[in-house]
Amino acid sequence: MKKKFIVANWKLNGDIKTISNFLKNLKLKAPLYLKYNTIIIAPSTIYLERVYKNIKDINIFVSAQDVDINKKGAFTGETSILMLKDIGVKYVIIGHSERRFLHNEDNKLITEKFGLIKSLNLIPILCIGESENERKENKTKEVIKNQLSMILKRFGNKIFTNTIIAYEPIWAIGTGISADPIYVQSIHKFIKNYINTYDANNIEKLIVQYGGSINSKNAKNFLEQPDIDGLLIGSASLIYEEFLKILKISNDILVNN
Ligand code: 13P
Repeated sequence: MKKKFIVANWKLNGDIKTISNFLKNLKLKAPLYLKYNTIIIAPSTIYLERVYKNIKDINIFVSAQDVDINKKGAFTGETSILMLKDIGVKYVIIGHSERRFLHNEDNKLITEKFGLIKSLNLIPILCIGESENERKENKTKEVIKNQLSMILKRFGNKIFTNTIIAYEPIWAIGTGISADPIYVQSIHKFIKNYINTYDANNIEKLIVQYGGSINSKNAKNFLEQPDIDGLLIGSASLIYEEFLKILKISNDILVNN
């Protein structure tokens, strides 16, 4: 049975006190769930090293929420992939819809970031997904193909070995309205199939996780689907009780299978 990848995307939230309290509780309980889960915490850049030092001994990983395409130089305000690697970061979220829309990030820039992260042997968590209007117009698969095709054309499908894709329909993010798990299952299958058949390589360790209004009440329905390999959780991941409940749910599904 494949481990599930459970990622806490804290976005622009948290302070030293709440993070310390969260990690104290995570360290107490999370080791019970590590056999069946890979747990990844994505705090804001400023807290990355603090979180890493706190949890590295129990095999919980940290992810950055973004990275610049430049490795070093006169780029005020940016964070370099070399710096992330230097402090122990293993994963980097890229292409989150909040960055695509609020910071005008396009597929070309995201393709650059994807290649850069892979070139340094870190693991990208590539976010993709359609808007409300695109869903209404039945364009979900077309949008997803567009979001993946520039990477595929540039690097071939082999580059997706050992990567994570987070399918996050934009209309489900932060709305309290999660997508239908059966619908998500079909989209995940489509994503895996599209990447795997793009050229001759069979891609190993391609994780496709779901994100969008996940909480402890709906997580089970998603995690039970065969092609939902994990979750990218926003607001529910800020509350340690809720996050631990989701880890337990994921653990229990795998224990019973
Ligand atoms: P919510 O879980 O708050 O809907 O956020 C999802 C998300 O954007 C995770 O990256």
